[in-house]
Formats: sequence, structure tokens, C-alpha cells
Amino acid sequence: MRAIWITRHGGPEVLEVREAPDPTAKEGEVRVRVKMAGLNFAELSARQGLYPDAPKPPCVVGYEVSGVIDQVGAGVADLAEGDRVMAFTRFGGHADVVVVPAAQVWRMPDAMSFEHGAALPVNYLTAHHMLFRAAQLRPRSTVLVHMAAGGVGLATLQLCRTVPGVTVFGTASASKHDALRSAGCDHPIDYHSERYEDVVRERTGGKGVDLVLDALGGHDWKTGYGLLRPGGTLVAFGLANSSNGAKRRWLHVLRELIGVPIFTPLGLMNDNRGVAGVNMGHLWSELDMLRATMVELVALYDTGAVRPTIDSTFPFDRAADAHTRLHDRKNVGKVLLVP
Ligand SMILES: NC(=O)c1ccc[n+]([C@@H]2O[C@H](COP(=O)([O-])OP(=O)(O)OC[C@H]3O[C@@H](n4cnc5c(N)ncnc54)[C@H](OP(=O)(O)O)[C@@H]3O)[C@@H](O)[C@H]2O)c1
Repeated sequence: MRAIWITRHGGPEVLEVREAPDPTAKEGEVRVRVKMAGLNFAELSARQGLYPDAPKPPCVVGYEVSGVIDQVGAGVADLAEGDRVMAFTRFGGHADVVVVPAAQVWRMPDAMSFEHGAALPVNYLTAHHMLFRAAQLRPRSTVLVHMAAGGVGLATLQLCRTVPGVTVFGTASASKHDALRSAGCDHPIDYHSERYEDVVRERTGGKGVDLVLDALGGHDWKTGYGLLRPGGTLVAFGLANSSNGAKRRWLHVLRELIGVPIFTPLGLMNDNRGVAGVNMGHLWSELDMLRATMVELVALYDTGAVRPTIDSTFPFDRAADAHTRLHDRKNVGKVLLVP
């Protein structure tokens, strides 16, 4: 097998493709020949040494793949050799062969491409969980989505469209605003040239929004909380502000951590606002919940309500370029790795 190794913490140059013997499927597992592997922001943070949950280098990361089953372990009844599948891999997905427990594998609909199969799991599960579990998105709500042109961002915009009358504000670089509009964003905001909080206040007549989805973190959580209407919720799900550029810079990380606001039950009570946290990586033991959401997502895919946006695909030996594309904020939607 070939896999993309993080050889040590550092910039994209620490990535290396290495060969190893193929793994074998044991009881309850299947082996998948990978066609496409998804690249996520978390894997950039893992390489930088900013993702505490990641294995220590040298390691192979990667949360999701699509491919074809070529070996089935004992006791697996509902999957077979030759099935086209998508799978969660925690970690090890950036490889051309993966072995995973059968419970983390879904047969792909016939009409689903391998690109979509590798782009759907993490982005759409995260978006769905935030909108419909952490918060309960209601018709005619107003939502602010940060990093709106990224993989999770575009998934969120598409899912907002499945609820009637939802108005969405989304922050992204100006060149990506057409993509935001096509995914259902009513008010794209270029955060480089205007303060998103001013735009939101002005266009909502000072009322603010019902829901803020914020993976920027630090001082932005405070700003987002301040934009909430009574009954509104801030969902915190990332700390992208801490990883500015391709390398870890401790002073920068520290400044962002100092900016994290402290919320107390008394304060929340008096403000009539809520704060929810989402970390999908910590829901691994809740496979029943994740599987139920995947069923809903596949049904939405079948109706055409959700369609992953593929930004680009990179062969394994150009994994460094794939990482750089995300660091440079060039992507619109999902970046994929091809063995
Ligand atoms: N908690 C969870 O379970 C969970 C799950 C998945 C993802 N996440 C988090 O959600 C966020 C988005 O993930 P993703 O995979 O959708 O990201 P992505 O596709 O890599 O999106 C990256 C885009 O975000 C924008 N951006 C804004 N601020 C940024 C910054 N400080 N550094 C880099 N990019 C920045 C850039 O676009 P513009 O130039 O348009 O701003 C960039 O192109 C990440 O923070 C990730 O860690 C959390």
C-alpha cells in the first residue's frame, strides 16, 4: 500500500509518500481500495502540530475515503467484495488501501461519484449535526456562516436551503461570492474589506441573527455571541484563527487562545442566548447517531438537495500542494487526494 505520511510537525514539505505491506481485514472489518480521500482542515492542523487529537508523527491521517471493497472480514454480512462505498477512517484515510470496521462504511448510491463519496462524510455530517442537533434550525431563521466557501461552509449553505425561509449571511473572500450565492447564501460578506458584524447589524436592522456557526474561534466567538438575537445560539466548532499560514506560530496561537471568551450559565441565562460546541471527532462512540444522520444525508443526496462542491483533486505525490491550496485560502469546496 501507499500512504501519505506526516513525517514530523511542520510545513507541507514534511509530507512523504511511503510504501508498506497491505493490511488485512479482521473480524467485523472490510478492506477498501481507495479511489479518493478527502482532505480536511483538521489534517493541516495535525501536520502543524495544532490538533491535539491527531496521532504523533510519523503518522498517516485522513478521516474519509471512497472506494471499492476488495476483502471482507469474518462476521460482516451486509457488505460484499466489489461494493462501491464511502467510509470514515480515524485516522489513516490518506492511503490507497484502508481497513475499517464495517459500521463505519456506507454503500454509495449508484449515481454517486467517487469524488462525491469522499467529499460528503465529514463536511456534511458536521454541517447537519450543527444545524439540526447542536442548534435546531427553524423556518425563517437568520444564520451567519463563517468560512462559507470551504467544504463545511458550502455543505451548511445547501442544508440551510432545505428549511423554508432561512436567510444566510456567509463570510468568504470576494472571488468566491458567486459560489456562495449559487449554494444559497443571501448575503456574502468579504471579511477582508468590511467588518462582518457591521454588515449583519445593518442588514438585519440591528436585530442580529438566530444562529452563528463559527470555526474561526478566539475573538470571533465573542463577536458572534454579540450578534445573537434572544433565543439565538453560537455553535463553536473550530479554531482556524490559530493556524495562520503553513507553520505553527506559538505567539499567534497564544493570542487567539487569550481571545476566547468565557461564558457562564448566569450570563447565558440573563442574555437568553446559548453556546453549543461540536467536535465530530469526539462522537466516534456514537456511531448509531452518525449512521442515522448519514442515512438522512444520502436521502438528501438522492433528491439532489445536497451536492458536494469539488474544488480540486491532487495525486498523492502532490499532497503538499493540496495542503498549500487550503493554507492559501484558494479552495472553493472540497480538496481531494487521489492515490
Ligand atoms: N469540530 C468539528 O467537528 C469540525 C469538523 C469539520 C471541520 N471543522 C472546522 O471547520 C473549519 C472549516 O473546515 P473545512 O474543512 O470546511 O475548511 P476548508 O474547506 O479548508 O476551508 C478553508 C477556507 O476557509 C477560509 N478561511 C477563513 N479563515 C481562515 C483561516 N484562518 N485559515 C484558513 N482558512 C480560512 C478560507 O476561505 P476564504 O478566503 O474565503 O475565507 C479557506 O479557503 C475548520 O476550522 C475545521 O477545523 C470542525
